[in-house]
Amino acid sequence: MTEQDFIPKAYLNSIDQGRVTWSSPSNIALVKYWGKKKDQIPENPSISFTLNDCKTTTILSFSKKENNDDFSFDVYLDGDKKDDFKPKIETFFKRIEVYLPFLKNYHFKIETTNTFPHSSGIASSASGMSALALCLVSVEKELITDFVSNEFFNQKASFLARLGSGSACRSIEGDLIVWGKHNNIKGSNDLFGIKYPYKVHENFKNYQDTILLVDKGEKQVSSTIGHNLMYAHSFAQERFKQAHGNLNTLISVLESGDLDAFIALVESEALTLHAMMMTSMPYYILMKPNTLEIINKIWIFRKQSGSKICFTLDAGANVHVLYPENEQGPVIEFIKNELVGYCQNGHYISDRIGFGAQSS
Ligand code: PMV
Repeated sequence: MTEQDFIPKAYLNSIDQGRVTWSSPSNIALVKYWGKKKDQIPENPSISFTLNDCKTTTILSFSKKENNDDFSFDVYLDGDKKDDFKPKIETFFKRIEVYLPFLKNYHFKIETTNTFPHSSGIASSASGMSALALCLVSVEKELITDFVSNEFFNQKASFLARLGSGSACRSIEGDLIVWGKHNNIKGSNDLFGIKYPYKVHENFKNYQDTILLVDKGEKQVSSTIGHNLMYAHSFAQERFKQAHGNLNTLISVLESGDLDAFIALVESEALTLHAMMMTSMPYYILMKPNTLEIINKIWIFRKQSGSKICFTLDAGANVHVLYPENEQGPVIEFIKNELVGYCQNGHYISDRIGFGAQSS
């Protein structure tokens, strides 16, 4: 498929007003996306677990307007008007207008809520952008008289979400999503996320992710800046090659259920992501002392107990603790006894693999 496939034919239905609602989850990458070309085309393929409980719900109300010259919308977070969100959404609308030519015909009210605290350091861009993209594709579906398959609907939502925030394209479906062309993964492509198409061992069913909130503050360096620093990065090409290799290895790990190999690959990916930040120019560090304390405690616990617990990191200081469902009891006990002290205000969120967005 190409970008052209997402440009619609003329809309034959006319609708004056309406309202659609979508809840869309966050996701956590196992092989990371770090470095991009124009329009959020990734430099390397990535794969993520879709989460279940960390979600954004967006209600999109729309009403026809007289003047079609400009975009017109208001944004609310938890009932409060958020004019500071508007520039980001305006940029998003400009990027996607060619694929959704009805955007200037309506005034939109975008009402959004997150299940996780706003300033938790958990990126709301993946869940937020995917929820908005899904709402917009739902509006388009009402304007089109032709049948729209579920498959195309999800592809278009993922394609549009990608234009809002790259990793958001992996939040439409679950439970494992690949985004970015990989030679050994059928259907994988740079334009939108696809469901991982091969066998996944029982060991990964209902995999758990407890997110330890180490630092809820604003990041010193945004992901946009971080991605851009990969352009002139000395190790960039090697890193992109490594991601292809790691995804290749993961295909057999997911099939065999080899948790030791899974741990080695996932932790190496997390530290490589941060190593890229630390070796950018200018260089920077997003991990905090407590991030390292937690990582060391996890390694000690794993060695002493034989647990299959491991960690991964986003572009921030928080730690995602990943573990099989059958270890839930002892791992939560370990987190409560030994890790909570490193979390800001003792705050953590228990989540697990999920199956994607839902409309209501
Ligand atoms: O989607 P962005 O542009 O916010 O990039 C986020 C990239 C990471 O979260 C660090 C890794 C990933 O693949 O999700």
